[in-house]
Amino acid sequence: MVQVSAGLEGVIAAATVLSDVDGQAGRLTIRGWAVEDLAGRARFEDAVHLLLDGFFDDLPADLAPALGQARVRAFAEVAALDAALVAREPYDAMRALLARLPDGDGVHDALALAAAPAVFTAAVLRRQNGLEAVAPDPALPHAADFLRMVRGANATQGEARALDAYLVTVCDHGLNASTFAARVAASTRAGLGSAVLAGLSTLKGPLHGGAPGPVIDMLDAIGTADNAVPWLEAALDAGERLMGFGHRIYRVRDPRADALKAALSRLSKGAGALPGRLALAEAVERAALDILRRRKPDRPLETNVEFYTALLLEALDLPPEAFTCVFAAGRTAGWIAHAREQQASGKLIRPQSVYVGPRPRAAA
Ligand code: ACO
Repeated sequence: MVQVSAGLEGVIAAATVLSDVDGQAGRLTIRGWAVEDLAGRARFEDAVHLLLDGFFDDLPADLAPALGQARVRAFAEVAALDAALVAREPYDAMRALLARLPDGDGVHDALALAAAPAVFTAAVLRRQNGLEAVAPDPALPHAADFLRMVRGANATQGEARALDAYLVTVCDHGLNASTFAARVAASTRAGLGSAVLAGLSTLKGPLHGGAPGPVIDMLDAIGTADNAVPWLEAALDAGERLMGFGHRIYRVRDPRADALKAALSRLSKGAGALPGRLALAEAVERAALDILRRRKPDRPLETNVEFYTALLLEALDLPPEAFTCVFAAGRTAGWIAHAREQQASGKLIRPQSVYVGPRPRAAA
């Protein structure tokens, strides 16, 4: 009897120099850096450089101006944002614009793709609010410009730093579902644009990158710390999953949750409603972990990255319907690096299936 590994669980399908997820120890290493150290000191530009280094001969040493120019190139596509796309959810509209970028393999293509989700997300959000899209300022750092393009006004340094911490934290994470999809596309020798679109489409679902919006819905529905236990019990009784908890690889707490919580604490110093929101979230987290431990004693279900993602992006005044777009704005860097690494290996990814359908019928 052929054994099928459901969800490819436990299957090692690539060797990579990019990142290592240690699910038993709760450690994430990105090209030799612990994620919490990288998130505390790197800007998004630094993370992109770290990931792409060695995968392009002509990668500029200072990526900030090159990414700024790439944002300007991407913005030219915003003219194609018509009423039909504005009516779609932000993720779909952003993805449609991204599909307009060239499907090449050069560093120019890579940087346009890495810059584009920020530009397109900001433009879509503004148009959905009846406002004109704001053109990029190539002289600004990427995270600061992202927030400026969304708001039409400069963000504070603390806010830009918090968004940098987020984008860096999520820039790469082993062979997660979207990265695998990007590598499959790249293995066929399709271009980087195709690989990024494969990654984008796979990130969208609520079991992967689509969880943080529902985390906000959950916190809003719970409302007060006292209501956490009855609400969570009722949700589980109804067969629902608690968003922001559980992971395929981590059997302990996801280290990215703490990297984001640290960024949130830095941001919350002196910020109006945030300490109250954080206190509610911590109460919900404690209650959820207790209940999950009791209900699933054999399956460790801990807090994952999406829980504190939701709080951090909310604190930056980004709307929940755009959270997955912002996740993509960070993860695109990882998809591009993985696509290049896969292309260099030269091997087509093509697993097998076992046929369990009916045998051929006898012809009449
Ligand atoms: N809430 C309640 N129960 C859960 C949860 C959860 N969040 N996660 C897993 N379980 C339960 C399942 O119901 C299952 O129980 P069963 O054996 O009685 O059927 C058991 O734990 C194992 O779950 P699987 O789905 O087999 O585990 P898998 O490794 O495939 O799932 C996943 C991982 C998809 C992340 C899951 O934990 C989940 O759905 N979490 C909620 C969504 C979420 O937060 N997604 C973001 C993940 S992080 C990221 O991708 C960036």
